[in-house]
Amino acid sequence: MNQTAHIDSVEQLDQDMAGKNLSGYWRLGMEGLPNHPVTAVQPCLWKWQDVYDSLVRAGEVISLENSERRVVRLVNPGLDRKHAFATHTIQVSFQYVKPGENARAHRHTPAALRFVIQGNGAYTTVNGQQCVMEPGDLILTPKLTWHDHSNDGGAPIVWLDGLDFPLVTALHQVMQERFSERRQSIEKSSEAVMGQLGNSVRHGLPLAEFFHYKWRDTEPALRALTKTPAARDRFDGYLLEFRNPVTGGPTMTTIQCAVQLLPAKEETHSHRHTSTVMYHVFCGQGTTEIGEQRFNWQKGDTFVVPLWHPHRHLNSSSDDAILFSMSDAPALKALDLYREEI
Ligand SMILES: [Fe+2]
Ligand SMILES: [Fe+2]
Repeated sequence: MNQTAHIDSVEQLDQDMAGKNLSGYWRLGMEGLPNHPVTAVQPCLWKWQDVYDSLVRAGEVISLENSERRVVRLVNPGLDRKHAFATHTIQVSFQYVKPGENARAHRHTPAALRFVIQGNGAYTTVNGQQCVMEPGDLILTPKLTWHDHSNDGGAPIVWLDGLDFPLVTALHQVMQERFSERRQSIEKSSEAVMGQLGNSVRHGLPLAEFFHYKWRDTEPALRALTKTPAARDRFDGYLLEFRNPVTGGPTMTTIQCAVQLLPAKEETHSHRHTSTVMYHVFCGQGTTEIGEQRFNWQKGDTFVVPLWHPHRHLNSSSDDAILFSMSDAPALKALDLYREEI
């Protein structure tokens, strides 16, 4: 019997397995894993003037008759530009609707939130509920809720959009449907729903019916908080989270929204966490140190603090500064991946 001597090698094994859709653990380089999470998302600040100029120009060349939405996205320089996301979990963009315009009704699996920056006289309709949009208002369009935007006012409206689009994309769950009509008919107002909340909640109020946080309620609550020095958080100043009023849980399943006031001369302590946070400057000016970098911000600017980057906020001015923020912490907590270090 003729027997050929056979000497195997790693290279030969890898090659043979590749042809059978197999791969060895040794190919992953797992021995070199870091001892903390690492992200490609880079600290970055987007200036309001750049965003606003682009929106106004888009208002001249993009028609809502031909385009589903007139939106300018923030692109993180550390991520693949093709996907054009601000972070690996949250997409942030700005939307511009001119007087008389309507952004047609649709729904999708990515959940979205709207934080109104300027303009009056416009409204978003969410599952038949009319939410009149005023600066500082936060409006939710959770997963698969029908929504359309109409501007019946006399000036353009601008708001910030936050979506869990990158996360839903990573889970291969992205889909969108158009409503049968361009606009939904209005069945009730968000004011009527808000009237059933507060210190007591109407029995049986469906969870899915609450979509609107009014600035006229948020601001006094934030100001009242500043009257209680013990409420001052050493990492965030005076911070209010937008909770679901029915469950007490996060703003949405995947995103926690908050508003925080940094008093004049505030210098917060540094910390880091596994969540990534997007900040939008509602008013005032200041500086945020992220790792070795310093970002000076003012009203209208937006910036990102990537995960596990030490950061702290400074307000060296003589006026209060207010930041609106969106964090992916609820998604991380649901997966037992949230961690914080001082
Ligand atoms: Fe949408
Ligand atoms: Fe933080």
